[in-house]
Amino acid sequence: MRTLISNIKQLVQVEETPQLKVCGKAMAQMQTIDNAYLVIEDDHFADFGMMAGLKEQRFDREINAEGRMVFPSFCDSHTHLVYAGSREIEYIDKIRGLSYEEIAKRGGGILNSAKRVQEASEQQLYDDAMTRLQQMIGFGSGAVEIKSGYGMTTEAELKMLRVIRRLREDSPLTIRATLLGAHGIPMEYRGRQEAFVDLVINEMIPQAAGEGLADFIDVFCDEGFFTVRDTERMLEAGLKYGLRPKIHANELACSGGIQVAVKYDALSCDHLEFTGEEEIACLLNSNTMPTVLPGAAFFLNMRHAPVRQMMDAGLPVALASDCNPGSSPSTNMQLILSFACVSYRMLPEEAFNATTINTAYAMGLSQTHGSIARGKVANCYITKPIPNYEYMPYAYGENKVDVAILNGQVV
Ligand code: NIG
Ligand code: FE
Repeated sequence: MRTLISNIKQLVQVEETPQLKVCGKAMAQMQTIDNAYLVIEDDHFADFGMMAGLKEQRFDREINAEGRMVFPSFCDSHTHLVYAGSREIEYIDKIRGLSYEEIAKRGGGILNSAKRVQEASEQQLYDDAMTRLQQMIGFGSGAVEIKSGYGMTTEAELKMLRVIRRLREDSPLTIRATLLGAHGIPMEYRGRQEAFVDLVINEMIPQAAGEGLADFIDVFCDEGFFTVRDTERMLEAGLKYGLRPKIHANELACSGGIQVAVKYDALSCDHLEFTGEEEIACLLNSNTMPTVLPGAAFFLNMRHAPVRQMMDAGLPVALASDCNPGSSPSTNMQLILSFACVSYRMLPEEAFNATTINTAYAMGLSQTHGSIARGKVANCYITKPIPNYEYMPYAYGENKVDVAILNGQVV
């Protein structure tokens, strides 16, 4: 099946020579073609160029994109998309002045979601998550990482991971699964946290890996949650089963999380509000993608990660939604573009690279996703009529996506 998308006002983020990630100053570069065409063959991009250069040939289908732009789909490399219920009452507590840590200490926060997930049926979790995945597609996402982490027991963690496996089988999105056994400390393990770490190591990791349910392993390594030593033990156990780390680090303090991520060659370390020169230097000699979550920083009204210093130092930066019921209840990557530009003063080009190719890297997918390049998976979206690509972060809150195409199919 050969599809032609013709008369594209501007084709954005095309790559003649694909890169695995974009670092430092190069993040401000983005290739575009005006008045372009794009050819999709089955599930991959086959060709692109200027309309004037399009050779006479036969297509099975033509989509005339007159006046509209085409972008590669967003890659959302950090979500907690499988959850039950919602936490708007805690949101009000936060407005009244309680901190994230205070809410967590009294059994709210992650433990609140854990209780609901333990009680929910697998089918309910699947249905709710599938609804959110549909929303994500409508906002332009094409690949998404989903974490467990609201289980707190082996049984509930495996239930979450099985839901993710079903979503992966049924959804046109490219999905990667992460075991986040160590997301919070259950009440019954307070004061004997090591015993919970043992449970993650002795039960959750072997069972999740044994069933082939996880691609990656995550730990919430931060003040008040898991220590560097806990994290090292769990990452070592995960690596034995081939689970590469992607960890939550330095959201609440300079916790040593970034250093431990680099030490274990994590694919990414995420949040990074507390990042200093030492952490930046450590990341510079690594394969670890620094990933910032502007939705959570906005929603919790937190300090901002030093994104400009990171890019000035030559680091790549990725930006993901962190979609979850506590700190970022949104599936909309277009909003993340706007937060990137306003809160972190990123240029639109930097924000696009951070939400596509660099997040693809943070899921181990940048060879096949994250830009428009020949041979890559045909995940893209056609916009509504918009004046230029700068309009995407500018018109915040408005959905600029008209048609989503995943694996070469209009969805
Ligand atoms: O990435 N920081 C830790 N975990 C999530 C929050 C999860 C929750 O509050 O339910 C995050 O922001
Ligand atoms: Fe998270």
